[in-house]
Amino acid sequence: MRNSASIAPKPVLKTIDYYMVGISKLEGFSKPIKLSSNESALGMSPLAIEAGMKSLERGYLYPEVDTEQLAVAIGDYYQLSPERMAFGPGSDELLQRIVNTFAGPGEEMIYSKNAYMQFPIYAMLAGATPVAADDIDFRYSVDDILSLVNDRTRIVLLANPDNPSGTYLTGPEMRYLHKRLPSNVLLIIDAAYEEYARVDDYESGTNLVHEFDNVIVTRTFSKVHGMAGLRLGWCYGPEWVVNLITKIGPSFPVNCAAYAAGIASLKDTEFTQKVLDHNERWTKTLISEFRGLGLNAYSSQTNFVLLGFPPECGRSSDETNRHLNSKGIIPRQFALSDFVDKLRITVGTDEEMQKTIDVMQQFLRSA
Ligand SMILES: Cc1ncc(COP(=O)(O)O)c(C=O)c1O
Repeated sequence: MRNSASIAPKPVLKTIDYYMVGISKLEGFSKPIKLSSNESALGMSPLAIEAGMKSLERGYLYPEVDTEQLAVAIGDYYQLSPERMAFGPGSDELLQRIVNTFAGPGEEMIYSKNAYMQFPIYAMLAGATPVAADDIDFRYSVDDILSLVNDRTRIVLLANPDNPSGTYLTGPEMRYLHKRLPSNVLLIIDAAYEEYARVDDYESGTNLVHEFDNVIVTRTFSKVHGMAGLRLGWCYGPEWVVNLITKIGPSFPVNCAAYAAGIASLKDTEFTQKVLDHNERWTKTLISEFRGLGLNAYSSQTNFVLLGFPPECGRSSDETNRHLNSKGIIPRQFALSDFVDKLRITVGTDEEMQKTIDVMQQFLRSA
């Protein structure tokens, strides 16, 4: 259909490059090995599947508006206060809602240039200006972020740990940054991958929420709980902020299957531990195998590994991507200049990881 001449979207929407999700299909392969979207290799907890399926009996009804039971279950699991939580269909939607609440035309949101690629889009959708800080080889530069703060800054948005680099800011670094921000700047910490962080110097942003009134953290059930398809995210912040976020959000923020499955998943601690053990084993293995092949494998506190292809390794990231695709494997490529020599690989099942390593070894060694 032709665009009507009399209606028009907001001008800013014409300038937005929409976020490209990882590809999931490969011609000639009915079941490709999809390592492009940071989904959980082990899927959902069996208890969560059972609870989600059971909930469908009530799927004809609008879901619970009252999210108290879910908030209490999260609070028990992570030792947090249920009153400080708001919910949404994924943390993506919550991040968009939070940015839209705190920044608008004439105001700025600082992020780091190679961070989660949705970040500048949230600012633009809010009519605000996204301002990109430089990083240091894909790791956030706290000093560069601070150098960009001015009177127009309303938000600093960081993913910790970060995607697509897998790197993280330590607790002291995050506190150093927070301490130097004016009190009218909101620090948003997107902690989608927090559960995977296993280093002693990582500190949950939720600690800062307890101490300061200008910090909000977003979390998700898409990663360690393996519920990416059910869409369940939550945020943790000052009570008045989460009440406002709830008030301006969807009337029914959580569908019935996500609600039931989320609560059940939190109870299945044995399964979650299995997911974490699997992830730790394979991130370590991937990093050491790929470094052994001459690649620059970034340290990761997430469920994926970012790979750099220096000229000495003999193969470009593009060639390797095409070769992996020809074997039915889909890594993640990014159409951005800083990522021309990069691929990102999500942790998959044992068989998927072994096959990926074998294919990469064979390809790089024959260069
Ligand atoms: C850093 C980061 N934040 C947020 C999200 C969005 O997650 P959700 O599924 O909760 O919307 C992702 C998804 O990959 C992510 O990598």
